[in-house]
Amino acid sequence: MDVALEKRQVERAYELYAPVYDFIFDWIFSPGRVAAVKHLDLQPTDSVLEVGIGTGLNLPLYPPSCRLTGIDLSQEMLDKAIERVQNLTMPNVTLKVMDATSMDFADGEFDKAVATYTISAVPDPIAVLREMRRVVKPGGILVILNHFRSQRRLTGFAEDLLAPLCTRLGWKSNLALGPLLSQVGLTPELIVKVNMFDGWRLVKCVNRK
Ligand SMILES: C[S@@+](CC[C@H](N)C(=O)[O-])C[C@H]1O[C@@H](n2cnc3c(N)ncnc32)[C@H](O)[C@@H]1O
Repeated sequence: MDVALEKRQVERAYELYAPVYDFIFDWIFSPGRVAAVKHLDLQPTDSVLEVGIGTGLNLPLYPPSCRLTGIDLSQEMLDKAIERVQNLTMPNVTLKVMDATSMDFADGEFDKAVATYTISAVPDPIAVLREMRRVVKPGGILVILNHFRSQRRLTGFAEDLLAPLCTRLGWKSNLALGPLLSQVGLTPELIVKVNMFDGWRLVKCVNRK
């Protein structure tokens, strides 16, 4: 069952979630966040793009001097991230409202890119991953952390059934990892199960062109 998520729906959903997002999504998803930033294997000179940075819950996990650009569709979510950057005193962080399906960056502008809990919340995950590949230099690293459709038959079926409801809430419950990666030409170097019940997957890819 394929249920489309629309851009307007996402904007409206995150306008509503912004004030309470951290309260709900901080501690539950924290182990995955720590693993995602660790697997970026950050070097002092790296420039990093975080796609769908939201309220910036990953910001405290980066080195304070990290050269980080964060983009998000939702001004309300980004306003929270701006506050966080100011509180953490991170001088090399740039935040922009931008649609990740058509980024205003040059080819190969970044060394690394990361998207945590974002790829199932975007209307067009294929377009977002293609853009991530375009703006990361050849040989650079892409880290994607998300819940993907379960490979277990019953759980996958339940996720399909829940899809229409989840779509209304602003994310896709049954996004399948394998077809997504093959459609954008990415081969995972590493897949690690993280968070409660190992229900989320951290995928690390090298941007081979
Ligand atoms: C579930 S939140 C995840 C936020 C953050 N990455 C985290 O780990 O807490 C998904 C985010 O993706 C953003 N988003 C959805 N579609 C987008 C798009 N096309 N371009 C940029 N950001 C988008 C939403 O506004 C929201 O902030």
